Amino acid sequence: MSTDTLSREPTKLEPVTLKRKFTEDERSNSSSDSDSDSKVESKKRRVSPEDGITETELHLVENDTDDLQTALVIKSFEEPFSVDEKYPVPDLGEHEVLIENKFIGLNPIDWKGKKYRFGVYSFPWIQGRESSGVVKKVGSKVANLATGDEVFIASTSYRDLRTSTFQQYSIFDSRLVWKLPKNVSLKEGAGVGVGLVTASSVMEELNVNIFENEDFDKEQYISPEDRDSILIWGGSSGVGSYVIQLAKVAGFKKIISVSSLKHEKFLKDIGATHILDRFKELDELKKELHEILPNGLQIGIDVVGKQTSDHVIHFLNLGDNNNDSTKTFVGVVSMPSKDLDSELLKNIEVKQVLIKKFHENVKHGENLVRVTHDLLDSGKIVSQKNLKLYSGFEGIISGLEDLEKYGASNEKYVVEL
Ligand SMILES: NC(=O)c1ccc[n+]([C@@H]2O[C@H](COP(=O)([O-])OP(=O)(O)OC[C@H]3O[C@@H](n4cnc5c(N)ncnc54)[C@H](OP(=O)(O)O)[C@@H]3O)[C@@H](O)[C@H]2O)c1
Repeated sequence: MSTDTLSREPTKLEPVTLKRKFTEDERSNSSSDSDSDSKVESKKRRVSPEDGITETELHLVENDTDDLQTALVIKSFEEPFSVDEKYPVPDLGEHEVLIENKFIGLNPIDWKGKKYRFGVYSFPWIQGRESSGVVKKVGSKVANLATGDEVFIASTSYRDLRTSTFQQYSIFDSRLVWKLPKNVSLKEGAGVGVGLVTASSVMEELNVNIFENEDFDKEQYISPEDRDSILIWGGSSGVGSYVIQLAKVAGFKKIISVSSLKHEKFLKDIGATHILDRFKELDELKKELHEILPNGLQIGIDVVGKQTSDHVIHFLNLGDNNNDSTKTFVGVVSMPSKDLDSELLKNIEVKQVLIKKFHENVKHGENLVRVTHDLLDSGKIVSQKNLKLYSGFEGIISGLEDLEKYGASNEKYVVEL
């Protein structure tokens, strides 16, 4: 706020920093960690003439550059994304940091949510689930980060718009922020978070406990010596590539990806032991898999969709199903079809990935960040180096259009702000 503005209208500026209480719906979907409750209380909203503020006062508010930033907003489902240069900078809670986003990673959900009208709960709405940038402010209880630190984030608390990344500044719980690891550039860091958290959640569902969680199911725990075979349908995707790498870290002996053969070198470099050509017929793939695993497949992950989830269930039925071995399916995108022969599902535990545990259970999220940070730092897992770059807020719009039109073929769409 400029001193010039203050000297002209000192008394009338008080009402302009309007605070509002979150609705119950918003509160229940933002962090459940009680320490961070204060942050949701103080969220600002745009003021308007309906608030009883005169046009002159409104003009003064809208020229308060310290409080305002540029954001890419959805005003309604019918309208295209639009650039708003006067969107409020979010308020900071005691455990939180204010991050100036330098690069933003694009995800399919960013365009799908708007087009298919899901995951957007009010207007104006801000999309964007990941970014990298620089810490600009820290809350009073922040111990692990300081201003100037280079970081990246994965926003899984998508109803808390302060964490969305299609804006200049995002707020994030400092305990869930990665300091930029040695082997990851700021540009690459923007596209790591969502894939890494999702893949980590897959490993959680498998109960291999590489994240040192206290609440894992000991009865179901797959011990290191029993980590035998895992198949990922769609290993060349962002999520799939981290699942492969974490499976390697966990010590799985056979890691099989169903992918285009053009990605074979990449997939083998990151840990896949076998690649099956995704364009072959299911029966042919079953034969090939049976040759690799005569005793059957232990774990199947699908990162693509319903039909391929069904295929993975077929794979899990290969070999000897009469033994006691645990068979698990994890769906990242979809569950198997309802009309799939129930006999095929008899010996299989079917699980779905839920990434919101990352922010809802801060201790869990903290462990995840610490372990994966060290894995990236030591080079045991690597970030996607193949980036498709765009620039500025308009670049987000064209990036999303291209992502919808062409998809990402073992590459990450990143926008430099
Ligand atoms: N459950 C969750 O919380 C959660 C979280 C994050 C993401 N997701 C979802 O997970 C999916 C993957 O996301 P992402 O960002 O990682 O994807 P991505 O990087 O955009 O995935 C693209 C890759 O998938 C491969 N692919 C496409 N169709 C395939 C098929 N039929 N068989 C094998 N591979 C195939 C493509 O292969 P080619 O190069 O050969 O074309 C490409 O390499 C998306 O649907 C996303 O919405 C879910």
